[in-house]
Amino acid sequence: MVRILILIFTLTLPILSAAQQAPAGEEAFGTRSYDDYERPEACQSCHVDIYQQWTQAMMSQAYTHHWDEIEYFDLAVRHAEKVPELKGAVDGCNGCHAPLAYLAGDVPPPRPAENSRANESVSCDLCHTITHFKGDVPFNFSYASKPGRLKYGAKEGMKSPHHDTQYLEVYTQAEFCGNCHNEKNPYGIWVKSTQLEWKEGPYGQEGVPCHRCHMPKALGRNAKMAQEDMVAQHLFNGAHDPGKIAGAIELRMHPLEREVPLDEVVVLKVQLFNGKAGHKVPTGSVEDRIMWLHVTAEDSEGNTFHLPVDPKGFEGEQYTIASDELAYSDMAVPLNDPAFKGVARDGVPVGDRIFRMPYFDPDGVMTIMQWNTESLGVDYRIGPRETKIETFTWPLPDDIALGKVVFTARLNYKKLVKPVADFLGVPEDESETVPVNYATTWVEIYD
Ligand code: HEC
Ligand code: HEC
Ligand code: HEC
Ligand code: HEC
Ligand code: HEC
Repeated sequence: MVRILILIFTLTLPILSAAQQAPAGEEAFGTRSYDDYERPEACQSCHVDIYQQWTQAMMSQAYTHHWDEIEYFDLAVRHAEKVPELKGAVDGCNGCHAPLAYLAGDVPPPRPAENSRANESVSCDLCHTITHFKGDVPFNFSYASKPGRLKYGAKEGMKSPHHDTQYLEVYTQAEFCGNCHNEKNPYGIWVKSTQLEWKEGPYGQEGVPCHRCHMPKALGRNAKMAQEDMVAQHLFNGAHDPGKIAGAIELRMHPLEREVPLDEVVVLKVQLFNGKAGHKVPTGSVEDRIMWLHVTAEDSEGNTFHLPVDPKGFEGEQYTIASDELAYSDMAVPLNDPAFKGVARDGVPVGDRIFRMPYFDPDGVMTIMQWNTESLGVDYRIGPRETKIETFTWPLPDDIALGKVVFTARLNYKKLVKPVADFLGVPEDESETVPVNYATTWVEIYD
């Protein structure tokens, strides 16, 4: 009898502990209240540096940032009003951008100007109450959060007067970040796959997690009463930090011949090496970002010329060479303007090479509305430690001066394609040109 009872007990134990696990992903919607979570200011009193770092990171602005507010309220929410099947996905924006609001079932959350707790965005207490993620591959806010006195982290045996602590391995792993940095949309398309790109690349293979580059460790105190130790800096610098973008890709350029007769062609090769990022560049919000290579020549009299890239002939290449055609016409639906024909696709000099992966709406037109993406085009981004080579074949123009011609290649980046930013009234900083790198070389022209 006792044996049977023990057997029943041991059999039900795992079931009981599974039932105690916090809900994850969509199942967690509306299962908590804002009051279950402590405010970041409660952590600030002891975790002084970490708090200040977090306030400067996009993590603390994921809900309030201007472009997020515009895209969520003016495009996504309005689109779901017209197409009710989208409601689940649009509510889901908050699972990553305003997690406390999502968990409290408060969607759409109050506008940022109303100063609700949705504004805390990805907060200290949200991250540090995550216990695990659901499934084999983390994506679509698959984290489970169990708020309370116990805070989880990557260090063993920490003692705090304010809370209990516990080490969990997941805090050391890229999968932790993948909860929000991988996203599958209603069409089953991976519209964000930073952790997946990382995993199949060299850094994933070598076990160098996101933390090493985005939360680097430095000697300091993680709380004002703590001992000095190597502390994970909560920087999370990415596309919004020009210094993080700078040098992410290295450039070199050479001509095939140094001395070129007047009636000949110049052939240039440009090498682009991703030596700094642990994933493809660009990654994340790939539908918004644009990175392009612009090559110019200046002759001995100061005349300047623009060199278009040589096409390579792969399928879908037209989306990787700048043109002045229109795109983004699917915004007509949320904007309630059937006459809207779209805006310029690229907004960068025609003929320049673009490193991107286009997102297509159900009509096969390029879109920045990731939730409305039915297919992806050619992936012409630069992978981690990958080198791409671009060729520029340039028949010398008749009016070129003899002597030295200097070539400059500039690789530039914008967080949001400019024609879209201008059309939607997104503040300038989101579409400003951020230099990634440049290279120069020269040839001598003779008669
Ligand atoms: C009264 C001071 C105080 C407050 C308030 C406080 N902490 Fe701590 N916390 C500490 C101390 C002290 C440690 C241990 C530091 C050490 O020994 O290195 C710590 C450690 C931690 C750790 C590391 C745990 C680990 O195992 O790696 C986390 C995470 C953490 N706190 C999160 C929070 C969060 C989130 C808040 C706000 C909700 C908060 N703390 C508020 C004092 C505080
Ligand atoms: C996006 C999720 C996320 C957010 C937001 C976040 N943290 Fe962390 N935090 C982590 C992870 C992951 C680690 C472990 C990093 C490591 O060891 O590589 C960590 C580590 C810590 C540590 C231990 C640092 C050390 O190395 O000694 C403390 C303390 C801490 N966090 C407090 C906070 C506080 C306070 C806030 C808000 C101001 C905050 N965290 C916001 C994910 C987060
Ligand atoms: C709860 C969801 C969540 C988790 C977990 C999370 N992030 Fe994020 N992260 C976001 C959101 C949302 C943004 C976008 C903020 C914005 O621009 O609106 C973001 C932004 C960033 C950025 C800035 C990108 C830019 O465009 O400037 C970096 C870098 C980043 N996260 C790295 C990490 C790393 C590393 C981890 C794991 C240690 C992590 N994140 C965990 C939700 C999350
Ligand atoms: C070897 C260093 C390294 C590792 C590892 C790494 N990153 Fe990055 N990350 C970078 C650099 C450099 C950039 C800036 C260039 C760029 O935008 O891609 C960046 C940019 C980003 C951005 C902004 C991308 C954009 O263009 O909007 C996000 C988000 C991000 N990283 C998240 C992650 C996550 C999540 C992981 C782990 C799965 C990770 N990173 C691993 C170096 C790294
Ligand atoms: C699975 C988590 C997740 C979901 C769901 C999600 N996002 Fe994001 N979002 C992110 C992360 C992470 C980034 C940052 C990526 C990067 O920097 O490249 C981001 C970036 C953005 C950006 C660009 C911010 C900037 O300043 O460049 C906008 C706008 C945005 N998201 C809006 C939305 C909307 C609207 C929805 C719902 C339709 C949504 N997101 C759903 C995680 C998510």
